[in-house]
Amino acid sequence: MPALVEMKRQGKLISSLTAYDYATARLVDETGIDMVLVGDSLAMVVLGHENTLAVTMDEMLHHTRAVSRAVRRALVVADMPFGSYHGTVEEGVANAIRFVKEAGAEAVKIEGSRVELIRALIEAEIPVVAHLGLTPQSVHRMGGFRVQGRSMDAALQLKAEAHAVAEAGAGALVLEGVPREVAASITAELPIPTIGIGAGPDCDGQILVFHDLVGLSFTPVAKFVRRYADAGALIRSAVEHYREDVERRTFPKDEESYHLPEAAHRALDATRKSGELKKA
Ligand code: KIV
Repeated sequence: MPALVEMKRQGKLISSLTAYDYATARLVDETGIDMVLVGDSLAMVVLGHENTLAVTMDEMLHHTRAVSRAVRRALVVADMPFGSYHGTVEEGVANAIRFVKEAGAEAVKIEGSRVELIRALIEAEIPVVAHLGLTPQSVHRMGGFRVQGRSMDAALQLKAEAHAVAEAGAGALVLEGVPREVAASITAELPIPTIGIGAGPDCDGQILVFHDLVGLSFTPVAKFVRRYADAGALIRSAVEHYREDVERRTFPKDEESYHLPEAAHRALDATRKSGELKKA
């Protein structure tokens, strides 16, 4: 976390991406991405839910463990799921400790301006990434996934919340679905890095959902997503070829098979010819 703050100080932009399993986390880490978020977006892109609300602590811990095993370089941040920090501060801290102790997370991310909880987490030695603007766990309160901070009042409220979470001790702030101008203003004023998603290019870093970036999401993507690859088409074509090869008996070939030694092969053939069955 201090390295990210130092990057802001030096004017270096922070690259961040979500990952949810060992294979993708390894690839993401090996490319030199700075921060890997085990986002609760996995509820949608991995588990097929309509929103992020249903994903559980156990599911988030399971995926965070897989990502932690893969990552050598990046900061691993675990997203605290809906309900895991919405009760008492003590419950929030206890759940955050599980991410660090049982799953290898180096920081947790929480949505909303929860300054009391942020202070308690810092007190418990757990670095915090705050998340403001379009906070998907508030989908019902917001009436859908809507851009936030669009009026002067809403923008000022967002700025006040950004200052509050930074003062409470958050080490970085994800700004999601906010006008570029609001994100730029917050970024200029805050001592901690802002990581934008749908918040324009003036943030200190950017984050995207892995499945959106590589073309593995099945719903129409938001305006801010840039798709860098069509992994969906690649995988579909590979699987289709495999199915055709199996159906035509062109997979596996002889060189993709194991073989008996010559003598054992001949003996086996002889038993088949004579109808002999060797007793087990
Ligand atoms: O869950 C998630 O993937 C996130 C990012 C989009 C910031 O919260």
